[in-house]
Amino acid sequence: MSPSYRGLLAPLLSVYFALLLLLAPGNAYQPISDDTLKSLPRPNDDFNIHTGALLAPILRPRVPGTPGSTAVLNHFVDFFRTSLPDWNLEFQNSTSKTPVSKGKEVPFVNLIASRDPPWASKGDVGRLTLTAHYDSKYEPEGFIGAIDSAAPCAMIMHAVRSIDAALTKKWDDMRVHGRTNPLDEQEGIQIMLLDGEEAFKTWTDTDSLYGARSLAGQWDEEVNPAMSVYKTPLSSISLFVLLDLLGAKDPTIQSFFPTTHWAYKRMATLERRLRRLNQYKSASDSSDRLWFEHGSKNEHQVNMFTGIEDDHIPFMRRGVEILHIIDAGPRGFPAVWHRMEDDGEHLDLATVEDWSLLVTAFAAEWMELEGFMPGSEKRDAEEEAHGNNKRSSDHQGHTEFF
Ligand SMILES: *[C@@H]1O[C@H](CO)[C@@H](O)[C@H](O)[C@H]1NC(C)=O
Ligand SMILES: [Zn+2]
Repeated sequence: MSPSYRGLLAPLLSVYFALLLLLAPGNAYQPISDDTLKSLPRPNDDFNIHTGALLAPILRPRVPGTPGSTAVLNHFVDFFRTSLPDWNLEFQNSTSKTPVSKGKEVPFVNLIASRDPPWASKGDVGRLTLTAHYDSKYEPEGFIGAIDSAAPCAMIMHAVRSIDAALTKKWDDMRVHGRTNPLDEQEGIQIMLLDGEEAFKTWTDTDSLYGARSLAGQWDEEVNPAMSVYKTPLSSISLFVLLDLLGAKDPTIQSFFPTTHWAYKRMATLERRLRRLNQYKSASDSSDRLWFEHGSKNEHQVNMFTGIEDDHIPFMRRGVEILHIIDAGPRGFPAVWHRMEDDGEHLDLATVEDWSLLVTAFAAEWMELEGFMPGSEKRDAEEEAHGNNKRSSDHQGHTEFF
C-alpha cells in the first residue's frame, strides 16, 4: 500500500468506525409521563365479547385453512385498511401437511402490518415487533382460544391504533428538525399475526409453529438492499415481543432471557406506575401481587427457564432478541388452557383492558412518543405558551449519547 493511500485511509477509517458506532442499534427508549399514562386510550366497548369491534370477530374457531380462519384474517385486514391506512400490509404464505390432513397441504397465512418513518428505506429501519398467533386449536372441536390468543391479538390492535397518530406527529416533527438521515436512528414498528402456532395432534418440532417457522426461515434468507443498515428482515427486528395466554385474572409473568431483562423491567415499571396512578381496572387494592414478579431482580438472577415452546423459538434460534410475555406461574398455564372453557365468557375483561394499556404504554416508550401522545401534548402546548419548547430539546435523539 502506497504512503499516499495510507494518508487517506486513516481519516476514512476513523469516519467509518464513527459511523459504525452511530449505526449500532441504539435501543432508544424514553419513559412516558404520568400525564400520558393517565390519558392512554381505552378499548371501551371494542373489547365486548359479543359486539366489540376489535375482539368479538376473533372469538370463533379459526383453524388454519378453514373459513373461520379466513374471516378472522379479513377482520384484521379491514381493521388496518379502515382504522390504520398508513400501515403497510404483507402476507407471508406457506403450506404444509399436518398429521390430520390426510396427505393434503394446509395453507398457513401470516399477516405482517408495519409502519416506518415515511422517508426511510426498508433496510435502514429497525422495528419493534409485537406478535401473537391468531389460529385456534383443531381439537376440541369448537375450541375458541380466547386467551390463546384472540385476546392478545385484540390487545395489540388496540395498542397500535392508540399510538398511530402520535407516530405521525413524531415523524412530522423529525422531518421539520431535519432528522431524516439514516444516521439518525430510524425505528419503525410491526405487528405479526401468526398462523399455525398450535399442534394439530401432539406438539412436536414438525407439528407446531407452522407459520412462525416459515416466516423466520424466509426472513433469514431474504437480503435487504446493499448498504442497508440491517442485512435481513430478520435482523431488522429490534425486539420480538410475544404475547400469549393473556386474559385470565392475576397472571404471572416471568423473565426468561437475561439479554432482554432490561425490557422486562421496563414493563414491570410501567405496571407499577399504572397501578399507582389507579389506571389498573383489575386491581383490588395496593397489596395486589405484581404480574411482572421479577421486576426487582437483575439479569443475573433471572432463572433461565426456556422450556416453553412458542412462536419465538424459530426467531430466537436465529439470534432475534425475545421478550416472551406468557402467563406461566408455579401452577403452570391458566386453568382454562387448551380446554373448551377458554372462551369469551372466561376472559377477565378488566385484565384484558389492563394488558392493552400496558402494551400501549410500552410501545409508546419504545417509539419515544412522549410529547406526541394525548396528555403529554397538552403539557407541551402549555410549555410552549411559556416560551419553553420542551419538545425540541427532548427530542434531539440518541446521538446525544455520543
Ligand atoms: C396469501 O394469502 C392471502 C390470503 O389467502 C392472499 O390474499 C394473498 O394473495 C396470498 N399471497 C400470496 C403472495 O400468494
Ligand atoms: Zn395454545
